[in-house]
Amino acid sequence: MSGHGAAQVMTATKSGALSGRAEVPGDKSISHRALIFGAMAVGETKITGLLEGQDVLDTAAAMRAFGAEVVQHGPGAWSVHGVGVGGFREPENVIDCGNSGTGVRLIMGCMATTAMTATFTGDASLRKRPMGRVTDPLALFGTQAYGRKGGRLPMAVVGAVNPVPVRYTLPVASAQVKSAVLLAGLNVPGQTVVVEPEATRDHTERMLVGFGAQLTVEKTAEGNVITLTGQPELRPQVVAVPRDPSSAAFPVCAALIVEGSDIFVPGVSQNLTRNGIYITLVEMGADITFENPREEGGEPVADLRVKFSALKGIEVPPERAPSMIDEYPVLAVVAANATGKTVMRGIKELRVKESDRIDAMARGLEACGVTVEEDEDTLIVHGMGAGGVPGGATCATHIDHRIAMSFMVAGMASKAPITIDDASPIATSFPLFEGLMTGLGAVLTKG
Ligand code: S3P
Repeated sequence: MSGHGAAQVMTATKSGALSGRAEVPGDKSISHRALIFGAMAVGETKITGLLEGQDVLDTAAAMRAFGAEVVQHGPGAWSVHGVGVGGFREPENVIDCGNSGTGVRLIMGCMATTAMTATFTGDASLRKRPMGRVTDPLALFGTQAYGRKGGRLPMAVVGAVNPVPVRYTLPVASAQVKSAVLLAGLNVPGQTVVVEPEATRDHTERMLVGFGAQLTVEKTAEGNVITLTGQPELRPQVVAVPRDPSSAAFPVCAALIVEGSDIFVPGVSQNLTRNGIYITLVEMGADITFENPREEGGEPVADLRVKFSALKGIEVPPERAPSMIDEYPVLAVVAANATGKTVMRGIKELRVKESDRIDAMARGLEACGVTVEEDEDTLIVHGMGAGGVPGGATCATHIDHRIAMSFMVAGMASKAPITIDDASPIATSFPLFEGLMTGLGAVLTKG
């Protein structure tokens, strides 16, 4: 699958107050991991609340290609019959991970220390993204990789025959790289150690422990030192996937900038490695209440009550970036609807996401009449106050679901409508976005 279909133009027109209940889909990061870890366990893992976005469906297909039995029983209800650590069979064909960096990088990790060759590709967005950040540490285990110039897909990965354990310090704050190394370490005798100077999302660590791996995390002056003991027998689990805080950010931000809005978003993960956007929005003056805090599927969650708010620009602390890395595009839209400027520094990782997100947001916001400043590592948005964005532009989404949804949120509050050239990538992470947002009162039209 390419991860998206034919280009689908979509327009958002200024809407009246948003109201009602926004049930956002399952967490994308946890959904990928539930399928992959289930495939590496011996026996049947049962999953509820799985995100059925194209990214995750592509990972399900990949796990089948490596020999696991992956079955859908009903909406969000799936089972995975795993083959055990080191039990993968060599895929007969190229593995197409569509649009998903998480999918391809984690799957490369989990086959990298098994004696087999697998070839990976993806859509035009994924084929531009760097894989060297994963294949460099995998080479330390003895894995070889042959890709296009610049470490790009398509790429053949030759698993190490006699892998040795590795100690690796992450040069970039990336949960995908951390996870790829840990997954490779699963099939290696001895202890694999990953040091992360800056904490990134910790779903791999939490879930591996849940699946029975021996894994410890020690907080040191160097950062988190994660030690995994290789060759465990992973036990199948029952996984209840919590709702995705990154997807929730779209209706939440829309409600904050559309006058008179008042919405309820139940069961949103408040994992400390994921909740930076909510801390930032509250600092900007957002009226969000975090009700009924509890644990669901091993994650801290809360129900969010969100009301339209007069927001002010702030300086986002750069050290918060890993905990809100996917939310900067929609934050830039909120910033345009705040008073004063919002300064986002330490965000150069955004340049190697599904698109160059600093560039995509800067160009789109400029087209909508907003003043922005940028450098390699920074985006500064000059706010125009609530409802102050002129709009009236068509923005390019560059096969990037979060850019597409961000400009649709922008159009819900701008003076003139905002159009995106292609809404189809939204299906990679939030297939029901259009229905959910129109259900709250948003005006979205296709074509
Ligand atoms: C993810 C990690 C992040 C994030 C991505 C999901 C994960 O990527 O942007 O959407 O599930 O591990 P990086 O590891 O590249 O920061």
